[in-house]
Amino acid sequence: MTHRCACFIALMALLAVPAAAHAAPAQPWDWLLTPLSGASEHHIAGRMAWHARLMVLGWGVLLPLGALAARFFKIVPGQEWPHQLDNKTWWHAHRLLQYAGVLAMTAGLGLAWGFGHGHGTAAQVHAWLGWSLCIAGWVQVASGLLRGGKGGPADVRLRGDHYDMTRRRIGFERLHKSLGWLAIALAWVGIALGLVAADAPRWMAVVLALWWSALVAAFVRLQRQGRCIDTYQAIWGPGAAHPGNRRPAVGWGVRRYTAAAWRARFGPP
Ligand code: HEM
Ligand code: HEM
Repeated sequence: MTHRCACFIALMALLAVPAAAHAAPAQPWDWLLTPLSGASEHHIAGRMAWHARLMVLGWGVLLPLGALAARFFKIVPGQEWPHQLDNKTWWHAHRLLQYAGVLAMTAGLGLAWGFGHGHGTAAQVHAWLGWSLCIAGWVQVASGLLRGGKGGPADVRLRGDHYDMTRRRIGFERLHKSLGWLAIALAWVGIALGLVAADAPRWMAVVLALWWSALVAAFVRLQRQGRCIDTYQAIWGPGAAHPGNRRPAVGWGVRRYTAAAWRARFGPP
């Protein structure tokens, strides 16, 4: 090989380095960092990024967790029901999580205000669905506040809406439970459409899909264990003397137990 020939080969090799680097197979994280559309760059206004974060925090995390607490933790593991009644853990968790969730949602809406005129079906459906979800969130708070009084067998002077299961309480439970779960399910559609409208990076969709699967798995497991107990029984026990136990429980998949059946299922071995 002549000296001139060796120089030529070395020069060609040097020139080929950047081209080879460009042609190198993409790393797995490159795929995750790419926007959903496959575009090379992702741009989103700062306030819309905060809109998305607050909405995911509210509708994606806090509100579903609060609904799970209300459904499955009216009696907590280890509680000696019906000797120990009316454990308020679920009640405090539900109110804290739902108020925080609706607050995050309202702040997120304030940030999106005036941005609902985008082009494309995903953006338009997202804006409509988004407004409906915000209204549903506020209706949930209003229905919670208007649910009526509690009452109880010890308080004969003041019969309560819940103890007596008045029409007001039955109406509250029907509306609040069905609208609450419907809104939580639709919120996932709203979040997915938001990701498409903002052309978000793929990793966000992947992480949210994993989180959602974990929530669904927790729901199915707790439901199968029989932990969705009627609120009325959790508070006042299974006795037939209580008026609410003489009518059917409100809602799908709500269980009622006798003291013995509860002990057999959840009591100490
Ligand atoms: C002031 C705020 C709120 C109060 C006082 C409140 C109160 C209640 C009460 C008393 C229950 C139990 C109903 C029963 O089992 O008889 C309940 C359940 C539920 N709440 Fe709320 N709530 C509030 C906000 C919200 C919000 C904003 C949502 C949004 C999604 C929500 C979703 C639910 C759901 C899905 C259930 C049914 C759980 C199940 O399947 O048993 N709540 N809430
Ligand atoms: C369930 C959760 C969400 C709700 C309730 C919601 C609600 C809304 C609402 C009501 C609007 C329209 C505002 C107006 O009319 O002025 C809007 C716009 C928008 N949101 Fe969301 N949002 C949510 C989640 C997200 C997420 C996760 C993203 C992005 C990752 C996102 C991105 C956007 C974008 C890009 C727009 C402007 C759409 C357009 O160009 O028309 N949103 N959102």
